Amino acid sequence: MTINIDRTRHPGAAAPSQRGFLWGASTSSYQIEGAAHVDGRADSIWDVYARPPGRVKNNDSGEVACDHYHRYPEDVALMRELGLNAYRFSIAWPRVLPQGRGAPNEKGLAFYDRLIDTLLAAGIEPWICLYHWDLPQALDDLGGWQNRDIAGWFADYAALIAKRYGDRVKHFATFNEPCVFTLFGYGFGWHAPGVADRAALHKAIHHVNLSHGKAIDVLRASVPGARLGAVHNRQPCYPCTKSPADAAAALRFAEYWNDAFPLPQHFACYPPTLAEAVAPYVQPGDMAQIARPLDWFGLNHYSPHYIKADSNLIGASFGAPPDDVPRTAIGWPIVPDAFRDTLLDIHKRFQLPIYVTENGTAADDTLDAAGGVQDDSRIAYLKAYTEAMAQAMAAGADVRGYFVWSLLDNFEWGSGYSQRFGIIYVDFATQRRIPKASARWYADMIAAQRATKGRSVRTNRVEAAEG
Ligand code: FCB
Repeated sequence: MTINIDRTRHPGAAAPSQRGFLWGASTSSYQIEGAAHVDGRADSIWDVYARPPGRVKNNDSGEVACDHYHRYPEDVALMRELGLNAYRFSIAWPRVLPQGRGAPNEKGLAFYDRLIDTLLAAGIEPWICLYHWDLPQALDDLGGWQNRDIAGWFADYAALIAKRYGDRVKHFATFNEPCVFTLFGYGFGWHAPGVADRAALHKAIHHVNLSHGKAIDVLRASVPGARLGAVHNRQPCYPCTKSPADAAAALRFAEYWNDAFPLPQHFACYPPTLAEAVAPYVQPGDMAQIARPLDWFGLNHYSPHYIKADSNLIGASFGAPPDDVPRTAIGWPIVPDAFRDTLLDIHKRFQLPIYVTENGTAADDTLDAAGGVQDDSRIAYLKAYTEAMAQAMAAGADVRGYFVWSLLDNFEWGSGYSQRFGIIYVDFATQRRIPKASARWYADMIAAQRATKGRSVRTNRVEAAEG
């Protein structure tokens, strides 16, 4: 596989990173940090949601997770060994602003200083995501994403982060997968804060969009040279059967999953069904405030969806994929062509540099007799998906970087620690990190890519000199 980057397609867009193609890894605060009540961090909605027995598999929580809060130097050293040149992580809002607003927590802010400085010293570009689902509980007590005031609270939080880290960090994402935390957290009740209510869902969707636009303004004004975006899932939503009901459900589901956030944020409009549902919460000027210019499009993609009609509050839910579609350990369909098509579709619609901000797979990883992890199914998945990305790029998609999900096995939301997504195995009893075979594969692939690129640069120079 050779990645060819055609920068001529976007002559107006400055390269968002000066480092060429980025090969990185992604994580999120609640899933890896642990230290949930250390150094002044207050509860997030996930701490509270996970507390009553029966909500998360095995009653797991992020209380300790990978203890990355204390072990980040080892984790950064591992990234460096693998040759990664970028790392996307999120800030725990309740660590830096325990009440969500008001007095900042210096000890929490200092943790991210240490992390950022360690990354930079290792030659790894830090990419900050402001929100990966761990809302301060204190703000949920005031209505959370259902309260329109949250747009101001989020903008103030963005200002704090911009002021503190904007001298060293240039790449910021506002939200990670807003469609998932709104739909699962306020529509289906499967994620924190566990609400299942039509009005709550639609209020949350609009207030998240508004918060995004306000935070973009703040980041743009306070970080010189900022490169700003948001991280979205996009994936084809296929009807499970040929029935007209399933076909209609798939279209409706796609509005919530694929378009509820990118459309307002890029084109100042909601998709049709949603436009009606959010109308009561939209005030004059909101759509212009939401649609602020962005520098890149962040894509999280794992699989396509197979959707069926349902009596739930959006009339659509996940159905089973056809029997002949292979699936990962967590049951997600493996269809690399859907990834290629999604990248091309994003390129066509949004005309921005694309970063794949998450892609990867769960696998049934176990330590072998030699103390290693031979995760061949993950290698096969990553190989197929990075090849699909190369095909999309060859066909014109302007992809500038790829972040594997995830660096470490971690707290996989409702599945707790039962699903391992890392390229590095974590023995949660001892916190020992063991790079899996896929980590070696990834490191070798990155090295080979750089060698190829180096060769072609040299060749071009020789050709130019020979003229
Ligand atoms: C994505 C989430 C991430 C992780 C992966 C497996 O939807 O952004 O936190 O859970 O799925």
